[in-house]
Amino acid sequence: MRVEHVQKNWISIIHDLDCSKVLSAETEKSLYELLADRAIICIKNQTLSHDDLLRIASIFGKVWDYKEDYGSRAFGVGHKQPEVDEEHSDNVEYVTEKGVLGNSYVPFHIDLNHYPIQYVPNRLLYCEANDTKESCPTVFLNTIEGFKHLDKNIQKLLRKSSINLKAPYVGGRHATMKRPAVDWHPWHKKEYINIDGFTIDMDEYKGDWHNLRRTIYTQMEKDNPRYEHHYDVGDLLIYDNRGTTHFRPEFEGHRMLKRVSWHQDWSKYVE
Ligand SMILES: [Fe+2]
Repeated sequence: MRVEHVQKNWISIIHDLDCSKVLSAETEKSLYELLADRAIICIKNQTLSHDDLLRIASIFGKVWDYKEDYGSRAFGVGHKQPEVDEEHSDNVEYVTEKGVLGNSYVPFHIDLNHYPIQYVPNRLLYCEANDTKESCPTVFLNTIEGFKHLDKNIQKLLRKSSINLKAPYVGGRHATMKRPAVDWHPWHKKEYINIDGFTIDMDEYKGDWHNLRRTIYTQMEKDNPRYEHHYDVGDLLIYDNRGTTHFRPEFEGHRMLKRVSWHQDWSKYVE
């Protein structure tokens, strides 16, 4: 396999690797170490079954089993997923515009930070449809680097602050969740910023919250450029769900990705 590091080394693109075949222990170890080091890896040109997706996901930790655990599928209560493969439907999700989000713009967020299941450690997105390539990228920002770029006085304020998060759409749950504004990334042992577009306010801040959030994002992005992933068919994207925050623009037409999440008990990473 050939690894190309891009964008200040927080994203790696992997070429010449066929994940439909059982990988050697050595290759699995290389992938595992790569994801532990990078925020996003993208393996190009894959043709993968659900079994393949779950097998690759298992390299990086415990896959979320929706049969056993309360999971992100609760997010989609009330909407039926299309073309679900019965055999594996519990662990490979379909992400389409037919869900609660529709074709709308979704602001920067850390997946499901606004849900009681606080810690989805990583997620995998697989693009196998041409429509997705045409329609809509996923745009990422590095939350560890972002925090480092904030003014010292803002860092200090955030370290002692709690934020309240609520999704801008009404899904199966619509509660407000409280989180620390800055949290501790368990395998990088670094602070990362939790504030996103779903953050409605901050307990310790009496000023104009929306103005502060704009300032924070402007500072985060200074010398820490966002990464836009425009999907090619066959892209297998795996991202660190806390080391990054992401958004997607409004789009027209169809977009379909397959998704696997890791269980919040992702102990393989913290052994
Ligand atoms: Fe997301």
